[in-house]
Amino acid sequence: MVLKLSIDEELCTACKLCQQVCIRDNIIVEDFAVETESNCFECGHCMAVCKAGAITLKSFEGHEDRISEYNSREIPVDYDDLLQLLKQRRSVRWFKNKKVDKETFDKLFEGAYYSPSAQNSQDVEFVVLDEKLDEFMELVYDIIKVQEDEFFRIKEFGDYLKDPSTKEFHPLLWGGKQLILTFSNDKTSAVIANTRIELLAYSLGLGGFYSLFILKADEIDHDRLMEFFPEIDSSKHMYSSFIIGYPKVRFRRTIPHKEINVIYK
Ligand SMILES: Cc1cc2nc3c(=O)[nH]c(=O)nc-3n(C[C@H](O)[C@H](O)[C@H](O)COP(=O)(O)O)c2cc1C
Repeated sequence: MVLKLSIDEELCTACKLCQQVCIRDNIIVEDFAVETESNCFECGHCMAVCKAGAITLKSFEGHEDRISEYNSREIPVDYDDLLQLLKQRRSVRWFKNKKVDKETFDKLFEGAYYSPSAQNSQDVEFVVLDEKLDEFMELVYDIIKVQEDEFFRIKEFGDYLKDPSTKEFHPLLWGGKQLILTFSNDKTSAVIANTRIELLAYSLGLGGFYSLFILKADEIDHDRLMEFFPEIDSSKHMYSSFIIGYPKVRFRRTIPHKEINVIYK
């Protein structure tokens, strides 16, 4: 049996909290906690709940700087503040010339680091397209052009690539110059991770919008698309595409929306 946990028997107080939170029945506590099964999926709940700090995940030894204690009774964000941030969110398509730098991207990707993932796979990967954005968009067009009769935007995009001077703005990127792509084996995990980045971006005064048409490239010819990203396991799909930058337009008020339909039963 491959043990995934380091348990300090001296520190363990046998409180059984770890056994209680383990959804794989992986821990049994008698005089102290013992790992009993080999199906630990390294969710780390035993480690996070332990009052004595007696458990660590072996595979993350050396990453102690990533562990920080917090008081779970203190909710760090107010409901009204968070709702206000959500209210003020707009899709932003017009950006200042200033680009998002690496340090700021690193801050955004911290949000993804703490994101949940299906079966704790932690397999979400990102690509930031900047210098190679135009080259990538040419590939996107080459893949999605099969649908240009269905979507006028794709046709416009083709016209733009043939002669950019015919359009004031890029028909898919608008004023955008940087693009975050999200890859995973699981769509929901990818979208959740990207949403966290998006929200952190708003908290830093950044903005952006999701692009449906770029995602079509994955739906139409996944294998060809993935040739552009040899660094990423080609079994993963591009599930999110978010254009990001510093907003040029300032919105001033919220917009009426359709009522949210919620069924309680
Ligand atoms: C999955 C998804 C795909 C989208 N695709 C595009 C797109 O291809 N181009 C675009 O300009 N906006 C795109 N949007 C932005 C929507 O058009 C936008 O959310 C909507 O117009 C409402 O505006 P708001 O986001 O400011 O509330 C997309 C949004 C989502 C969630």
